[in-house]
Amino acid sequence: MNKLALIAGGSTLVYAGLAWMMGVLPGIELSKVPGGPGVEPLTALQSEGRDVYVANGCSYCHTQQVRPLNEDKVFGRPSAASDFKYQTPELLGSERTGPDLTNIGVRQPSSVWQYIHLYNPRAVVPESIMPSFGWLFDVVDQAPTETAVPLPKTYAPAHGAVVPTHSAQALIAYLAALKQPALRGAEVAGIDQATADMARASPAPSATAVAAPSGAASTTAVPSAAGGFDMAKGAALFTANCAACHQASGEGLPGAFPSLKNDAVVNKDDATRHIQVVLQGLHDAKVSGVVYSSAMPPFAGMLNDADVAAIVDYERSSWGNHGKPIDAAQVAAERAKAK
Ligand code: HEC
Ligand code: HEC
Repeated sequence: MNKLALIAGGSTLVYAGLAWMMGVLPGIELSKVPGGPGVEPLTALQSEGRDVYVANGCSYCHTQQVRPLNEDKVFGRPSAASDFKYQTPELLGSERTGPDLTNIGVRQPSSVWQYIHLYNPRAVVPESIMPSFGWLFDVVDQAPTETAVPLPKTYAPAHGAVVPTHSAQALIAYLAALKQPALRGAEVAGIDQATADMARASPAPSATAVAAPSGAASTTAVPSAAGGFDMAKGAALFTANCAACHQASGEGLPGAFPSLKNDAVVNKDDATRHIQVVLQGLHDAKVSGVVYSSAMPPFAGMLNDADVAAIVDYERSSWGNHGKPIDAAQVAAERAKAK
């Protein structure tokens, strides 16, 4: 009897000790980390959206934690403790059936895209296996263009207009709030160390493999253009940054995102406007006579001159387009002009 008490009591003590050491103490320690600059509590609407996110099981397929690994670079910088100041409980997730969403507010700022994708992911990503969340939308007889979701015909209901419910609006406001702010010095150093450790533990795949996320046009399938610019790099960058809206075919989505095939701006020998649109974005303009309710996001802060040049050249020489190729110096000149 005494032995039994000793074993039961002893193992309970060991268990409690380990739980304290591995769970409670680090928890207390981490909750003292102040929020980084730019880390803010969610607004009422965003926090409602977070509840919609949880209720619909988004975190079964999506993580919100970027690891210090090469293959995670497409999702943003590695996550730090200060990012999670106002996120209790954290929605880290454990399974990446879909991409990490830590920085989705930066990676896909267009709410129009988000609504179309949420209503039916196949409408914008043909090969997507993400479920449709149609119950977050209403079908009404008529809706003003600003609120109706501009769905392509094949995905729209036969009659009426699709409008987001309040829950969908809250959810998309929450996604838009998922942005990684800059880090403080000490945390940057910690992450650099972690990245170096990880790199040593597992040799990194080649840099080109990282630049092209899954689904990117295979680099071997793209013929190198005679102009001498890097077609494969342009194709991978286009897939990662532009294809979500303009589609791999360059044809866009009728009514939502313009086609770049035979587009006047893309085929004009003077590339000034083409470069400006990519750097500064575009809103309320007319493309081939159509006014789009969605906006083209600016890429000046996300892509360097060489990357912009590679994408612009890729667009100018794909899908039957024949615009004169440009170089990074021209992009640098446009960037300087905008300042
Ligand atoms: C069954 C798994 C699954 C569930 C559940 C799921 N998704 Fe997805 N999601 C995916 C997959 C796979 C992709 C990649 C293909 C695509 O873009 O549609 C994706 C892509 C996305 C993207 C685009 C990410 C990017 O980097 O382009 C967003 C945003 C997104 N999901 C949001 C959500 C939200 C919000 C919910 C909950 C309402 C949700 N997902 C639920 C699997 C899922
Ligand atoms: C979130 C969706 C979205 C993404 C991502 C996107 N675009 Fe656009 N793009 C648009 C929309 C919408 C317009 C039209 C805007 C308007 O008319 O006001 C547009 C317009 C353009 C135009 C102007 C066409 C013309 O004739 O005026 C070019 C060029 C262009 N995009 C290139 C790109 C490139 C290059 C990328 C990637 C670096 C990209 N876009 C990423 C949505 C997007």
